[in-house]
Amino acid sequence: MVAVEAVVFDAYGTLFDVHSVSARCESLFPGSGIALSRLWRAKQLEYTWLRSMMQRYECFDAVTADALRFACDALGLQWSETLGGTLMQEYLRLQPYPEVAGALSSLSRYRRAILSNGSLQMLAPLVAHAGLAGHLDAVLSVDRLRVFKPDPRVYQSAMDLLEVRKERIAFVSSNAWDIAGATHFGLRTFWIRRGNAPPERLGARPEATVRDLNALAALL
Ligand code: LAC
Repeated sequence: MVAVEAVVFDAYGTLFDVHSVSARCESLFPGSGIALSRLWRAKQLEYTWLRSMMQRYECFDAVTADALRFACDALGLQWSETLGGTLMQEYLRLQPYPEVAGALSSLSRYRRAILSNGSLQMLAPLVAHAGLAGHLDAVLSVDRLRVFKPDPRVYQSAMDLLEVRKERIAFVSSNAWDIAGATHFGLRTFWIRRGNAPPERLGARPEATVRDLNALAALL
Protein backbone atom coordinates (compact mmCIF):
# COMPACT_ATOMS: atom_id res chain seq x y z
CA MET A 1 0.00 0.00 0.00
CA VAL A 2 1.38 3.45 -0.91
CA ALA A 3 2.43 5.82 1.86
CA VAL A 4 0.04 8.43 3.20
CA GLU A 5 1.07 12.03 2.45
CA ALA A 6 -1.87 14.02 3.80
CA VAL A 7 -4.34 13.44 6.61
CA VAL A 8 -7.63 15.22 6.00
CA PHE A 9 -10.13 15.61 8.82
CA ASP A 10 -13.83 16.24 9.00
CA ALA A 11 -14.51 19.02 11.54
CA TYR A 12 -17.87 18.74 13.29
CA GLY A 13 -18.15 15.61 15.38
CA THR A 14 -14.61 14.51 14.52
CA LEU A 15 -12.37 17.28 15.87
CA PHE A 16 -15.07 19.33 17.61
CA ASP A 17 -17.85 18.07 19.84
CA VAL A 18 -21.08 19.49 18.38
CA HIS A 19 -22.88 18.47 21.56
CA SER A 20 -20.73 20.77 23.69
CA VAL A 21 -23.55 23.26 22.89
CA SER A 22 -25.92 21.18 24.98
CA ALA A 23 -24.87 22.85 28.25
CA ARG A 24 -25.83 26.26 26.85
CA CYS A 25 -29.03 24.76 25.36
CA GLU A 26 -29.85 23.35 28.80
CA SER A 27 -29.26 26.67 30.57
CA LEU A 28 -31.63 28.38 28.11
CA PHE A 29 -34.19 25.54 28.03
CA PRO A 30 -33.96 23.52 31.25
CA GLY A 31 -34.83 19.87 30.65
CA SER A 32 -34.51 20.14 26.84
CA GLY A 33 -30.80 20.80 26.34
CA ILE A 34 -29.80 17.39 25.05
CA ALA A 35 -32.91 16.94 22.91
CA LEU A 36 -32.36 20.36 21.35
CA SER A 37 -28.69 19.72 20.66
CA ARG A 38 -29.47 16.33 19.05
CA LEU A 39 -32.32 17.54 16.87
CA TRP A 40 -30.37 20.65 15.88
CA ARG A 41 -27.46 18.53 14.62
CA ALA A 42 -29.69 15.96 12.89
CA LYS A 43 -31.63 18.68 11.09
CA GLN A 44 -28.47 20.58 10.18
CA LEU A 45 -27.13 17.51 8.37
CA GLU A 46 -30.49 16.76 6.74
CA TYR A 47 -30.71 20.32 5.42
CA THR A 48 -27.22 20.09 3.88
CA TRP A 49 -28.17 16.93 1.99
CA LEU A 50 -31.55 18.29 0.91
CA ARG A 51 -30.05 21.58 -0.25
CA SER A 52 -27.40 19.71 -2.26
CA MET A 53 -30.10 17.59 -3.91
CA MET A 54 -32.33 20.58 -4.64
CA GLN A 55 -29.32 22.54 -5.94
CA ARG A 56 -30.23 25.30 -3.52
CA TYR A 57 -26.97 25.81 -1.68
CA GLU A 58 -26.84 28.10 1.32
CA CYS A 59 -23.72 28.32 3.44
CA PHE A 60 -23.43 26.22 6.60
CA ASP A 61 -24.04 29.28 8.80
CA ALA A 62 -27.51 29.74 7.30
CA VAL A 63 -28.26 26.01 7.30
CA THR A 64 -27.21 25.74 10.96
CA ALA A 65 -29.36 28.72 11.95
CA ASP A 66 -32.35 27.33 10.02
CA ALA A 67 -31.91 23.93 11.67
CA LEU A 68 -31.84 25.56 15.10
CA ARG A 69 -35.05 27.42 14.36
CA PHE A 70 -36.72 24.19 13.19
CA ALA A 71 -35.51 22.24 16.23
CA CYS A 72 -36.88 24.87 18.63
CA ASP A 73 -40.22 24.88 16.82
CA ALA A 74 -40.42 21.08 16.77
CA LEU A 75 -39.67 20.84 20.50
CA GLY A 76 -42.11 23.65 21.35
CA LEU A 77 -39.32 25.92 22.64
CA GLN A 78 -39.75 29.68 22.49
CA TRP A 79 -37.33 30.98 19.85
CA SER A 80 -36.12 34.57 19.60
CA GLU A 81 -33.47 36.39 17.55
CA THR A 82 -31.42 36.95 20.71
CA LEU A 83 -31.55 33.32 21.68
CA GLY A 84 -30.71 32.20 18.15
CA GLY A 85 -27.74 34.59 18.16
CA THR A 86 -26.51 33.26 21.52
CA LEU A 87 -26.59 29.64 20.39
CA MET A 88 -25.03 30.42 17.01
CA GLN A 89 -22.18 32.18 18.84
CA GLU A 90 -21.76 29.05 20.93
CA TYR A 91 -21.24 27.12 17.67
CA LEU A 92 -18.06 29.16 17.08
CA ARG A 93 -16.65 27.92 20.39
CA LEU A 94 -17.37 24.19 20.26
CA GLN A 95 -15.00 22.17 22.41
CA PRO A 96 -12.40 20.07 20.63
CA TYR A 97 -12.31 16.44 21.79
CA PRO A 98 -9.63 16.10 24.48
CA GLU A 99 -7.11 14.14 22.39
CA VAL A 100 -7.24 16.37 19.30
CA ALA A 101 -4.26 18.71 19.84
CA GLY A 102 -1.93 15.91 20.97
CA ALA A 103 -2.94 13.60 18.13
CA LEU A 104 -2.55 16.35 15.50
CA SER A 105 0.87 17.08 16.90
CA SER A 106 1.94 13.44 16.63
CA LEU A 107 0.78 13.45 12.99
CA SER A 108 3.01 16.44 12.13
CA ARG A 109 5.07 14.44 9.60
CA TYR A 110 1.98 14.51 7.33
CA ARG A 111 0.23 17.47 5.78
CA ARG A 112 -2.87 17.98 7.92
CA ALA A 113 -6.05 19.66 6.73
CA ILE A 114 -9.71 20.08 7.58
CA LEU A 115 -12.29 19.38 4.85
CA SER A 116 -15.65 20.49 6.17
CA ASN A 117 -19.16 21.43 5.22
CA GLY A 118 -18.61 24.46 7.46
CA SER A 119 -17.82 27.83 5.92
CA LEU A 120 -14.44 29.45 6.56
CA GLN A 121 -16.12 32.13 8.68
CA MET A 122 -17.42 29.37 10.98
CA LEU A 123 -14.29 27.20 10.94
CA ALA A 124 -11.67 29.91 11.51
CA PRO A 125 -12.93 30.99 14.98
CA LEU A 126 -13.43 27.36 15.94
CA VAL A 127 -9.85 26.44 15.05
CA ALA A 128 -8.49 29.57 16.74
CA HIS A 129 -10.54 29.07 19.92
CA ALA A 130 -9.26 25.50 20.23
CA GLY A 131 -5.65 26.62 19.57
CA LEU A 132 -5.30 24.25 16.60
CA ALA A 133 -4.12 26.66 13.89
CA GLY A 134 -0.46 25.67 14.35
CA HIS A 135 -1.36 22.01 13.82
CA LEU A 136 -3.11 22.48 10.47
CA ASP A 137 -1.65 23.19 7.04
CA ALA A 138 -5.01 24.02 5.45
CA VAL A 139 -8.67 24.53 6.30
CA LEU A 140 -10.80 23.63 3.28
CA SER A 141 -14.50 24.44 3.06
CA VAL A 142 -17.17 23.24 0.64
CA ASP A 143 -18.24 26.88 0.34
CA ARG A 144 -16.19 27.51 -2.84
CA LEU A 145 -17.98 24.54 -4.53
CA ARG A 146 -21.46 25.37 -3.20
CA VAL A 147 -22.32 21.73 -2.59
CA PHE A 148 -22.02 19.69 0.61
CA LYS A 149 -20.38 16.40 1.50
CA PRO A 150 -20.91 13.60 0.61
CA ASP A 151 -20.92 14.96 -2.98
CA PRO A 152 -17.83 13.43 -4.67
CA ARG A 153 -16.71 16.85 -5.92
CA VAL A 154 -15.93 17.83 -2.34
CA TYR A 155 -13.52 14.91 -1.82
CA GLN A 156 -12.03 15.63 -5.25
CA SER A 157 -11.37 19.22 -4.14
CA ALA A 158 -9.12 17.98 -1.32
CA MET A 159 -6.93 16.21 -3.90
CA ASP A 160 -6.89 19.24 -6.16
CA LEU A 161 -6.17 21.82 -3.48
CA LEU A 162 -3.58 19.76 -1.62
CA GLU A 163 -2.14 18.39 -4.89
CA VAL A 164 -2.02 14.87 -3.44
CA ARG A 165 -3.23 11.71 -5.19
CA LYS A 166 -6.32 10.08 -3.69
CA GLU A 167 -4.52 6.92 -2.56
CA ARG A 168 -2.13 9.09 -0.54
CA ILE A 169 -4.89 10.89 1.36
CA ALA A 170 -6.11 9.48 4.67
CA PHE A 171 -9.59 10.88 5.24
CA VAL A 172 -10.71 10.85 8.85
CA SER A 173 -14.26 11.31 10.09
CA SER A 174 -16.48 10.22 12.95
CA ASN A 175 -19.48 10.65 10.64
CA ALA A 176 -20.01 7.25 9.03
CA TRP A 177 -22.00 8.80 6.13
CA ASP A 178 -18.95 10.99 5.39
CA ILE A 179 -16.69 7.94 5.51
CA ALA A 180 -19.03 6.24 3.02
CA GLY A 181 -18.84 9.22 0.64
CA ALA A 182 -15.06 9.44 0.84
CA THR A 183 -14.61 5.67 0.45
CA HIS A 184 -16.86 5.58 -2.63
CA PHE A 185 -14.81 8.44 -4.07
CA GLY A 186 -11.60 6.49 -3.51
CA LEU A 187 -9.86 8.17 -0.58
CA ARG A 188 -8.33 5.98 2.12
CA THR A 189 -10.71 6.25 5.01
CA PHE A 190 -10.42 6.00 8.77
CA TRP A 191 -13.60 5.99 10.81
CA ILE A 192 -13.36 7.45 14.32
CA ARG A 193 -16.07 5.47 16.02
CA ARG A 194 -17.08 7.92 18.71
CA GLY A 195 -19.77 6.87 21.17
CA ASN A 196 -19.69 3.29 19.85
CA ALA A 197 -21.90 4.37 16.91
CA PRO A 198 -23.30 1.61 14.68
CA PRO A 199 -21.89 1.46 11.14
CA GLU A 200 -23.96 3.03 8.35
CA ARG A 201 -25.28 0.61 5.71
CA LEU A 202 -24.16 2.54 2.63
CA GLY A 203 -22.11 -0.03 0.78
CA ALA A 204 -18.64 1.17 1.75
CA ARG A 205 -16.17 0.05 4.39
CA PRO A 206 -13.38 2.17 5.83
CA GLU A 207 -9.80 0.99 5.64
CA ALA A 208 -9.78 1.02 9.45
CA THR A 209 -12.01 1.85 12.40
CA VAL A 210 -10.47 3.34 15.54
CA ARG A 211 -11.86 4.67 18.80
CA ASP A 212 -10.21 8.10 18.74
CA LEU A 213 -7.51 10.22 17.11
CA ASN A 214 -4.74 8.88 19.34
CA ALA A 215 -5.51 5.40 18.05
CA LEU A 216 -5.40 6.81 14.49
CA ALA A 217 -1.99 8.40 15.13
CA ALA A 218 -0.70 5.08 16.50
CA LEU A 219 -2.02 3.26 13.42
CA LEU A 220 -0.58 5.65 10.81
C1 LAC B 1 -18.34 18.66 8.66
C2 LAC B 1 -19.58 18.18 9.34
C3 LAC B 1 -20.75 18.07 8.52
O1 LAC B 1 -18.27 18.60 7.43
O2 LAC B 1 -19.37 17.12 10.16
O3 LAC B 1 -17.44 19.15 9.35
